[in-house]
Amino acid sequence: MKFFIKTYGCQMNVNDSERIRHILKKKGFVDVQDEDKADIIIVNTCAVREKPQQKVFSYVGRVGKGKKVVIAGCVAQSEGLDLLKNDKRINFVVGTHQHYKIGSIFENFIKEDKNGIDIKFSREWEEIIPDIKARDSKVYGYISIMEGCNNFCSYCIVPFTRGREKFRPFKDIITEAEYLSSNGYKEIILLGQNVNSWEDKKEGKKFVDLLSYIAANIDVKLVRFITSYPGYYDNELIEVMAKHRSIARHIHFPVQSGSTRILKKMNRIYTREQYLKMIFDFKKNLPDIKFSSDFIVGFPSENEKDFDLTLSLIQKVEYESIFSFIYSPRKYTKALLLKDDLNIKVKKQRLYKLQEVQRNIQLQNNKKLIGKTIEALVVKRNPKKIDEVIARTESYRVVNFKSDADPGEFKKILIENVGPYSLRGKEI
Ligand code: SAH
Ligand code: SF4
Ligand code: F3S
Repeated sequence: MKFFIKTYGCQMNVNDSERIRHILKKKGFVDVQDEDKADIIIVNTCAVREKPQQKVFSYVGRVGKGKKVVIAGCVAQSEGLDLLKNDKRINFVVGTHQHYKIGSIFENFIKEDKNGIDIKFSREWEEIIPDIKARDSKVYGYISIMEGCNNFCSYCIVPFTRGREKFRPFKDIITEAEYLSSNGYKEIILLGQNVNSWEDKKEGKKFVDLLSYIAANIDVKLVRFITSYPGYYDNELIEVMAKHRSIARHIHFPVQSGSTRILKKMNRIYTREQYLKMIFDFKKNLPDIKFSSDFIVGFPSENEKDFDLTLSLIQKVEYESIFSFIYSPRKYTKALLLKDDLNIKVKKQRLYKLQEVQRNIQLQNNKKLIGKTIEALVVKRNPKKIDEVIARTESYRVVNFKSDADPGEFKKILIENVGPYSLRGKEI
């Protein structure tokens, strides 16, 4: 039996797909890159906004007849039985905490040819280290260190799709980090919905201890982490970063809005002032630090003043990059009780305005790099220009240049041209 995995959503989904691929290959199923050749299609789904969720259904609609379809991930968890009831093409639904069972699910398919569902939450951490061949990325070594979220931001479905926080034991994380390093990975990325709440009580370790252990003992060039919730930071993170150059000078700190009034309604626990203070504390102590963030525009009751506060926050922080979204009402969330009162035209105008402000900041900051030499990790060959590669800087900015380097190599590039989203230069 041949299988194909289609992945939507965040890096944790990418990593879950790697775990699923690992399990299935061990059971003797064959991984194919061409979905037409597959007998079973696994769709690893994202429910965070309406749009990614819709993509899942249009994808399922396009899957050729005669194939088994398994829905895994966050839509599987949030929609559950309705998926089987409402869409006859779907054969199995497997939730975020049960995907490690996918091997036996497949065996049952073959034996009994019966549809089914398993979306139970579990408190246990299922220890699986995807081997190198099962990994999507040969460049970024993903390591899940925790799953779930206890924050319940009022707009967010994730606590309902990933359950409450659970943490992977320290020793297992280190085993995976050593495995990646010994297989040539130069960057590792620690993953979780809320990495900074990670702890291993038995070992008496907190997130900063984990981070500094990896930085000091694992032979990689850079270690990163996503996502850290800006509400729970303390100065220790700055100290640990200052001590270890191998912790990337780039942090994703999603703020969502620059207005404290809106942050309150979103159930984020920090104010605008606290967030800015945190950012400037980092900048003061780590002068080369860069930030990225997520923004939601058009949250219920957001007015012009709130939106202006978001724009001014963007200008103050000078983010390296941002992701921005129009508020999307989600099942199970508290914000459903608030009236989604803004006109879609206004929401779109705000989104475009915000993106324009950010585009200018990025262009201005990128221009300062012209004539400078920077280092970047080669991610892949440019599919459109065969003599070029695409690389990413420490702050995740794309760099294009002519090179015969292989993915996974660090290269030095003299920057010659820049746009708001990417840099171009020559290898030196
Ligand atoms: N754990 C991360 C966020 C995960 S979801 C954190 O707390 O920062 C990724 C991003 O999707 C969020 O940061 C938010 O900007 C966006 N998002 C989540 N729910 C949304 C919704 N209902 N509408 C629009 N954007 C949403
Ligand atoms: Fe969602 Fe908030 Fe948890 Fe992030 S912290 S996953 S936005 S509930
Ligand atoms: Fe999406 Fe689930 Fe990740 S909802 S963003 S795939 S945690």
